[in-house]
Amino acid sequence: MGDNVGTGGHVPVMLERVLELLGPALSGPAPVVVDANLGLGGHSEALLATYPALHLIGIDRDPFAIEHSTRRLSPYSDRTTLVHASSSELDEVLAEAGRPVINGALFDLGVSSPQLDEAERGFAYSYDAPLDMRMDTSQELTAEQVVNTYSAGELTRILRDYGEERFAPRVAGLITKERAKEAITSTRRLADIVREAIPAATRRTGGNPAKRTFQALRIEVNAELSALEAALPAALDALALGGRVAVLSYHSLEDRLTKQALTARTKDTSPPGLPVPLPAHQPRFRLLTRGAELPSEEELARNPRAASARLRAAERIRVDD
Ligand SMILES: C[S@@+](CC[C@H](N)C(=O)[O-])C[C@H]1O[C@@H](n2cnc3c(N)ncnc32)[C@H](O)[C@@H]1O
Repeated sequence: MGDNVGTGGHVPVMLERVLELLGPALSGPAPVVVDANLGLGGHSEALLATYPALHLIGIDRDPFAIEHSTRRLSPYSDRTTLVHASSSELDEVLAEAGRPVINGALFDLGVSSPQLDEAERGFAYSYDAPLDMRMDTSQELTAEQVVNTYSAGELTRILRDYGEERFAPRVAGLITKERAKEAITSTRRLADIVREAIPAATRRTGGNPAKRTFQALRIEVNAELSALEAALPAALDALALGGRVAVLSYHSLEDRLTKQALTARTKDTSPPGLPVPLPAHQPRFRLLTRGAELPSEEELARNPRAASARLRAAERIRVDD
């Protein structure tokens, strides 16, 4: 990890490139940007420092992220609106802030460094802690409830779809067997069960075998994919002409949803066979990235947590009449 003072060693991922991609949309007289995953406020701070007229609306469902960023961004308090909410409520947040039209939006998906590093949040298989994994600590559903109450079939689906765990039925089977003896309440016990369920021959490769199961549970507990499915279209719809969105995802499911949402809007939807394209069916966006961009080798050497990052961006080129 990096060594920037006062940020808990947190390094914003692909920062230069994010600034470069969003920049052309943020240099007007009174631009508005939404950071839908405020976290420690790293990207937001750089945006506010770079664009002196910028108003930033920062959203995070983790109350500790809002608390931290409120302190960090206090020099810019007259230009920031920080909201404890899920990005799936983006429309409401913009309406309440009185800024239904925006010029930029940033999604830096997934978990933050403190969520992973603070053992008691229960996200990490490397510490022993209660099985929690809630980003929003006021929400009811925890990983403990998922692990102890979901059917073997539901657990299999989650582990396979959200964790890409090829031994999902074996892991789900052992979870249900073990929880019948005694409820599974700690990250350590769950990690041990996963290790036991995975065949020894495959355990030797591919890092900690609990990684995929923990990712899957985290996505389920926080309904991460449905939040993205609601938030990204809402942000795209709110963009003014020339407005830009950048999305950093960290696993293939997020990246696939992002790609689908962006490419759907960059296509001409005229019915086939027309001599001239219909203006109302012209694309409303153009892609700014060719495929997904990856962090540089140099960034990876500095910040190993950037390893799985994929960056996509698009620009609004047409607004509906
Ligand atoms: C990778 S961190 C963001 C880091 C941030 N860009 C920075 O530079 O400090 C992701 C953040 O998104 C938040 N988050 C995840 N899903 C969310 C959602 N649906 N709505 C709001 N915040 C969410 C997490 O709580 C976490 O703080």
